[in-house]
Amino acid sequence: MKVLAISGSPRKKGNTEYFLTQALAHMSASGFETELLTLDDKVIKPCRACLACRKELRCTQEGDDFHAIYDKMTAADGIIVGSPVHFSGPAPALVALLDRAGYCSRQSRRFFSGKVGAPVAVARRAGHNFTFAWLLLWFFVNDFIIPGSTYWNVGMAGEGGARDAEADKEGLDTIAHFAKNMARVLTALHA
Ligand SMILES: Cc1cc2nc3c(=O)[nH]c(=O)nc-3n(C[C@H](O)[C@H](O)[C@H](O)COP(=O)(O)O)c2cc1C
Repeated sequence: MKVLAISGSPRKKGNTEYFLTQALAHMSASGFETELLTLDDKVIKPCRACLACRKELRCTQEGDDFHAIYDKMTAADGIIVGSPVHFSGPAPALVALLDRAGYCSRQSRRFFSGKVGAPVAVARRAGHNFTFAWLLLWFFVNDFIIPGSTYWNVGMAGEGGARDAEADKEGLDTIAHFAKNMARVLTALHA
């Protein structure tokens, strides 16, 4: 079984990537195949709301990295989406990806139905919950099965980078517990 993590940060090797890497390390230790995909080097154009996906059952917008990522999303059994908090909301490239992927799936064959997934939000100081909630709503309306944890999956890290992130023991413990639950849910669903 495969678990895909997507970091929406525009920063290579940033804090979001760090927390997602930790989540994937736990999934890998539980025997899952894992992949981390980062949007820092990708171009994702925003949804044009053209509604062509209703008729074509796919997004007809070409010329960016959307389709390669969407294919990976539809192939994965589990998806973890991580975003840095930008003015209390998710990062723009991630919103563009999730808008198009979500609408496409809903208008065609609901590719995400029954997959397991949840978000991770990372901020220096505030706005985690708005971002986490926005992403959680995306997972919910796309018919994912969402494992919980002992707190929300939020990481505290600022310009200190990995040093800050490593110091956020509570955040790392929460994400570790979430990963354990995700492994349990995936294993039970595919037994
Ligand atoms: C445009 C922008 C807006 C930001 N807005 C917030 C914010 O609202 N609250 C906050 O605590 N941190 C904010 N930050 C800081 C980042 O969320 C924080 O440094 C995060 O750890 C960055 O993760 P990354 O390294 O994965 O990009 C902002 C950063 C940028 C670049």
